[in-house]
Formats: sequence, structure tokens, C-alpha cells
Amino acid sequence: MPNVITVTNQKGGTGKTTLSALLGIGLASKGYNVLLIDLDPQAHLSSLFVKITNLENVSDGAIEMAQDLRFNIRPINIGTRGRLGLIASGLNYIIKVYRGMIPSTDPYAIYKRIEREPAITRNYDYVICDTPPELFPPTIWGLFAADYIIIPSNLEELSILGTKLLIKEVLPEVIMYSKKNVRVLGMALINISKKYGQDTFNKLNDALTRFIRNLPVPVRERFYARPLFQARIHRHEELKDLPYRPRRWELPLKRVVDRSAELRIEVQSFVDELISRMSNFAGLQ
Ligand SMILES: Nc1ncnc2c1ncn2[C@@H]1O[C@H](COP(=O)(O)OP(=O)(O)OP(=O)(O)O)[C@@H](O)[C@H]1O
Ligand SMILES: [Mg+2]
Repeated sequence: MPNVITVTNQKGGTGKTTLSALLGIGLASKGYNVLLIDLDPQAHLSSLFVKITNLENVSDGAIEMAQDLRFNIRPINIGTRGRLGLIASGLNYIIKVYRGMIPSTDPYAIYKRIEREPAITRNYDYVICDTPPELFPPTIWGLFAADYIIIPSNLEELSILGTKLLIKEVLPEVIMYSKKNVRVLGMALINISKKYGQDTFNKLNDALTRFIRNLPVPVRERFYARPLFQARIHRHEELKDLPYRPRRWELPLKRVVDRSAELRIEVQSFVDELISRMSNFAGLQ
């Protein structure tokens, strides 16, 4: 069975999509086979890997997957050692949302399809789910499919508040009701300025630790003991422009990663810490 990692924060613009994509590239560069599932009807993750004209009318993507219909794994060839695949969202999904066509009954919709689909279970080591910035069905599918959850955030007050709400109000329910032994790997800082020092990170880690300690024991032991990832992805100007680039390049993110040794190193340290957190999971006592 592949490990399913869900990247989530109901606060918008905290770096979910960018982190999902970079983790996919980082894990595949290490030789792992990675399947990305774009659960956001805004299709931002898909647009980083597939030409926008091919996303205008998707009928075999993540929503079809949740509806028990035929879905397609699109191969993404960006020269990584491991295989990278994508189950896309389409620009037409927004209309489905508007017309109330997103099935909302089964929180396990994606979980079941992953478990039952040999093309996924045989071929992939990791599944990474990018979720939308609100708590509606596609986010719930991602949360209930997860073996591991990562919460990306920047250092803005509202993003940190979003993280705390997620930890206090949402994740305890997911931990209690999930059919999986889901574990929260921690909060990951992305898109932050280099002006912050270790002192800021230590304070944030301590504040998060105190916050998680208020949760009941069976819940808090599913949170990694050091809630803040030590690896960070700083603000890179090239990543900032990314949403405007698919119009010019088919694989805009690969181009950015290929051209920035600094970003590649950050992604590599992030992936190393991620793997270490998964293989030596130690919950908060
Ligand atoms: N490390 C970074 N450096 C510069 N810009 C970044 C970085 N990470 C993310 N961004 C930019 O910040 C914005 C938000 O990032 P992203 O789309 O990944 O967040 P998100 O949480 O997926 O947003 P949404 O909630 O809308 O889905 C995007 O314009 C993205 O290009
Ligand atoms: Mg996003």
C-alpha cells in the first residue's frame, strides 16, 4: 500500500499546492514513485504539470475518482528517477461546484478508490493529496484518505491562526473517525522571508507544542512530538510568479526547480525530514 500524505490548511494561500508539487518532485527525484491527486477544483496543482488547454474539460479526474467513475493517471515526465503521476482537477470543476454536483455523502470516497485500484497500489510508493482552502467534501476526502497530514503555513498571523483552528477543531475528529492510523507530521513553513532566525522558529514550535498538549492524550500522541518542521522553504521570487507561467511553459515548476540550486537543496532537506518523521514517528507525550 502506498503512503498517503495529505497537505492541508483551510486558510487560503498558505503554500499547500506549491508544497505538494515540490514534495512530489523531491520524492520522485529520490527514486520513489509518486502519485499526485489534485483535490482542489481550482486545478492549480494540475496547471503546474499539464497544459491549461488540456484542463478545460476534465472528465476523468479527481471528482470522477470520488464518484466511482473512470479516472485517469496522467504520467508527468520531468526526468525524475521515480515515476510521477497526476490525477487532475479541471477548470470545469468550478461549474460542478456551482451546480452542487460534488458528491458530499462519503468521506471515504477517495480512500476506497486508492485501496481498491491496483494501478495505484502496485505502482506507487506515495500518494500526495493537495486540498482546497475550505472544509468542503474534497478536503474531507483528502483528510480521510491520509496516513499522514502536513500543514503548510507562512508566518502571517492569519495563517498561524488557521493552523491552530485545524489542530483544535478539525484534526481531532479526523483522528477519531478515520479508518486509518492517521498521524500529523507537523506544520511546515513555506514562502517565508530569510529575515527570521532560529529564535522565531523555536518560539513558534514551543507555542504549537503547548497548544497540542491541550488535546486529549489519544489525539495528541498522533501529532509528531516536534510540531514544526526544521526544514523550511523560503520565499523564492520565481515561485511567486508561478501561477502566471503555465501559459508560457508546460512544466513551469520543473523549470524553476532546475534553475535554482538553492530551492533544490531546500526541497531535498524537506523530503529527508519528511521521510525521517514518517519512519521514526514519535508522538507528543
Ligand atoms: N516559497 C515560495 N516563494 C514564493 N512564492 C510562493 C512560495 N510558496 C508559495 N508561493 C506563492 O504563494 C501563493 C500561494 O501558494 P499556493 O498556491 O501554493 O498556496 P495554497 O495554500 O495552495 O493556496 P490555495 O489556498 O488558494 O489553494 C502562490 O502565488 C504561490 O506561487
Ligand atoms: Mg492550492
